[in-house]
Amino acid sequence: MSQPGFHCLTFGCQMNVNDSRWVARALVRRGFAECPLEKADVVFLNTCSVREKPELKVHSALGRIRQINPRAVVGVGGCVAQQLGEDLMKRHAQVRLVAGSDGIVHVPDAFVRLLEEEGLRLSYLDFTAGYPDRDPCLDEEAGDDVTPVAFVNIMQGCDNFCAYCIVPFTRGPRKSRPSSAILDECRAWLARGAGDITLLGQNVNVFGCDDGGDGTTFPELLRKVAALPGLERLRFVTPHPRDFSEETVAAFAELPQLCPRLHLPLQSGSDSVLARMGRGYDMARYLDLVSGLRRARPDMALSTDLIVGFPGETEKEFEDTLRAVDAAGFMASFSFCYSDRPGTRASSMPFKIPREEQLKRLERLQSLQNDRAEAWLAGRVGMESSVLLEGRSRREAGESDDAAETWQGHDPWGDTVNLVLPAGTGRPGLFVPVRFTAAGKHSLMAEVTGSGAGLA
Ligand code: SAH
Ligand code: SF4
Ligand code: F3S
Repeated sequence: MSQPGFHCLTFGCQMNVNDSRWVARALVRRGFAECPLEKADVVFLNTCSVREKPELKVHSALGRIRQINPRAVVGVGGCVAQQLGEDLMKRHAQVRLVAGSDGIVHVPDAFVRLLEEEGLRLSYLDFTAGYPDRDPCLDEEAGDDVTPVAFVNIMQGCDNFCAYCIVPFTRGPRKSRPSSAILDECRAWLARGAGDITLLGQNVNVFGCDDGGDGTTFPELLRKVAALPGLERLRFVTPHPRDFSEETVAAFAELPQLCPRLHLPLQSGSDSVLARMGRGYDMARYLDLVSGLRRARPDMALSTDLIVGFPGETEKEFEDTLRAVDAAGFMASFSFCYSDRPGTRASSMPFKIPREEQLKRLERLQSLQNDRAEAWLAGRVGMESSVLLEGRSRREAGESDDAAETWQGHDPWGDTVNLVLPAGTGRPGLFVPVRFTAAGKHSLMAEVTGSGAGLA
């Protein structure tokens, strides 16, 4: 076979996106080239099962793959693969590989074997005892290939068993990655020009507190990563409010690299619902944490996740969530209708909220959230910040005139920023000082301030 082609389709959280990017790099190292779905010899479908819809999406994606490219070898990875396992192969004849969360590490070599051995089927569904580490496959792509924004896994799995959540079942028990491997991967990304690194895990605050830990706690890890030469911006996701230590709050005051933007999932603004969810904190603790964070970084912007229509949620409990959006001052939030997940405690709780009522509540919450998000962006107009350029703006790519180009990037507060630059002066990985000139629904427009020092 000449150079085999691969195509990745990814659903789910940032950890899945990161896993797919790794699979792509590892396949390139094995001589594959990325290509459109219809030309691919192997297709990797990385799946999420956190809510009902994503799971249905997997079956329809497999149907679509079969229609567009029936000869491709298909591998399914991620949380739905972990959950449904070999049933996926029975239901979809084209699927010859299933790899659960800890099995992802085997996917690149498995595809090589599957192309060589017709009729072979492979499954990797066991959880491993330790963190399933992997060669980040970064070295040979250095040089001009700059990756301004990088994500680094620091742990796998979750032991919390929040009543609604399937993640502990699909990602397995919590396992921390050794800090030396994390720091090595961060260094490799910095060598590729990364200016913004996000540390990833399902509950990062308890990093290091399991057998995989090497004595480094989460705030210590933050200090070690922040001290790496060349790192400008550091972020992490997802923290758990219950496990957020004073020392981690203090890190926001100590470490200038730590960005003043934090995603801190609240889930519900009602103490009784939080207790039924088994989250281990109440609103008083959450708001106390928010005040501490704002004392450490007065310019802190907070975003969150919220679930509406949890079993038994009353109108009053739902209104507590509406009130919490203002009490905590979220600048953005993501909200979801509660969905039964197999095996979770909430799935067998009584008093399920009818779908229609869930949707009504979701609409009310989202309308409030949209107002707050727009107000946040509008309030930033006139302010100064810095943008890390990631690429040409999708809107403008290929259609700009000769003299100017529109670039896109993010600022330390995580807002998407569009910026017009003289042609040929921008490049991915460049930090540009800016002032915001206008706000859209989801992004900001900016102009370069000062001399634009640093522009080519
Ligand atoms: N580890 C993270 C998030 C994991 S899942 C945390 O602890 O916050 C991402 C989000 O999906 C959650 O924050 C929650 O808001 C939502 N979610 C998880 N299970 C859900 C369910 N059964 N129904 C609806 N939303 C759910
Ligand atoms: Fe799920 Fe809770 Fe773990 Fe987050 S902390 S992944 S919501 S069980
Ligand atoms: Fe989804 Fe698994 Fe992430 S269920 S949200 S892909 S951990």
